[in-house]
Amino acid sequence: MTRVDVIRVYGGARLAGEVAVAGAKNSALKLMAAALLAPGRTTIANAPAITDISIMAEVLRRLGCQVTLDGGDITIDTPERLEPEADYDLVRRLRASICVLGPLLARCGHARVAHPGGDAIGSRGLDMHVAGLSRMGADIGSEHGFVVARATRLSGASIWLDFPSVGATENILMAAVLAQGTTVIDNAAREPEIVDLVTMLNSMGAHVTGEGTSTLTVEGVETMHPTAHRTVGDRIVAGTWAFGTVMTRGDVVVRGVGAGNLRTALDKLTAAGAEVEDLPDDAFRVRMDARPTAVDVVTLPYPGFATDLLPMAIGLGAVSAGASLITENIFDGRFMFVNEMSRLGADIRTDGHHAVVRGRERLSGAPVRASDIRAGAGLAIAGLCAEGATEVSHVHHIDRGYPNFVDQLRSLGVKAERVTVPDEDYRY
Ligand code: EPU
Repeated sequence: MTRVDVIRVYGGARLAGEVAVAGAKNSALKLMAAALLAPGRTTIANAPAITDISIMAEVLRRLGCQVTLDGGDITIDTPERLEPEADYDLVRRLRASICVLGPLLARCGHARVAHPGGDAIGSRGLDMHVAGLSRMGADIGSEHGFVVARATRLSGASIWLDFPSVGATENILMAAVLAQGTTVIDNAAREPEIVDLVTMLNSMGAHVTGEGTSTLTVEGVETMHPTAHRTVGDRIVAGTWAFGTVMTRGDVVVRGVGAGNLRTALDKLTAAGAEVEDLPDDAFRVRMDARPTAVDVVTLPYPGFATDLLPMAIGLGAVSAGASLITENIFDGRFMFVNEMSRLGADIRTDGHHAVVRGRERLSGAPVRASDIRAGAGLAIAGLCAEGATEVSHVHHIDRGYPNFVDQLRSLGVKAERVTVPDEDYRY
């Protein structure tokens, strides 16, 4: 008999206490790819203990690296000669593995990485990755489901991105560090995870300036060396706890992420009526003692409101006083989880990339299904505001991005459990 895991949370909860947030998934995965750029031993600290990191470790092993994971510490031994191919089986499980394309091309002169396709939040193209690498002299195209790139030595180029894509910025950056000459990436992504990647690349001997701005300048170098790096804190996990605190009228100190890295999101919480206090040493406190007031949210590339916090913004709207207009500008499928949120009694209407959420006094617990990492966490958090129990299925999505999610909920005083139920009992 097959069994499946579900996360059960009980409503009427209030988040209170302290929570420590580990390093960012979306940084650590790219830092691991960056380790491919230099033969020898690279170590990465403060990585989150999540399944995506284990899958990325497997991707690197197939490329010839030895990788050990020990809590938050990752050790990567990169060989002189890498295998230049990442197969579909792994790339399908981890879309982010496309970020090995740039480093492989720079190191091996060719790379074959399975085309990752779309996923439950949208179509997710690669045209900007391809155009950027091609500007640097790569012969790049799609063959039998693979992105195939060749270049004896990449050369520096001026690259203007149509949109500040996180993944395209990272792939082009990791190719440019070993290219001949100077590369300028304009309209580059400015996320804290990009800044973290640049910090690590520079500590490996790269010459990159402009991190955190829209223009990155990369002076190519001949070789790079391994390094030891600590991952920046996960602002999306931190934001998830912050929204949960406001929705449950709680009081939580979040440690491991500075408020500066999620200012736009925290400003929304302040507008909803919360008190947000910056604390020293990458920490902040969120307090709420009344029903939140509805706020409008528009997702945008950093420093705009993060698309990965959209399910939390919808959850907040669902319990606020008034109506919220939520606009999604990054992923065409981000609203796919809305039907699940409606199963909890939320009043949500979507039209294209807008959603109108009319707040209700309370939601009511129900079985719901996680369709992606952030939707899963958003549904669990909304369940804390619902009468009775909410069971979130397909929890492997939550495991991909939230280390010890249930333990962290419990440590904040919430009744939550992870239970294994027979497949056929679980009708949802
Ligand atoms: N896009 C293109 N062509 C490209 C590249 C991107 O059309 O060549 C489009 C995408 O289809 C999408 C938009 O541009 O509509 C933004 O894509 P971007 O490249 O910025 O995102 P990503 O690198 O695929 C990362 C995170 C996402 C996060 C986004 C936006 C990782 C592994 N993933 O994705 O995180 O939502 O940036 O901030 O870093 C998550 O952690 O749950 C997650 C989905």
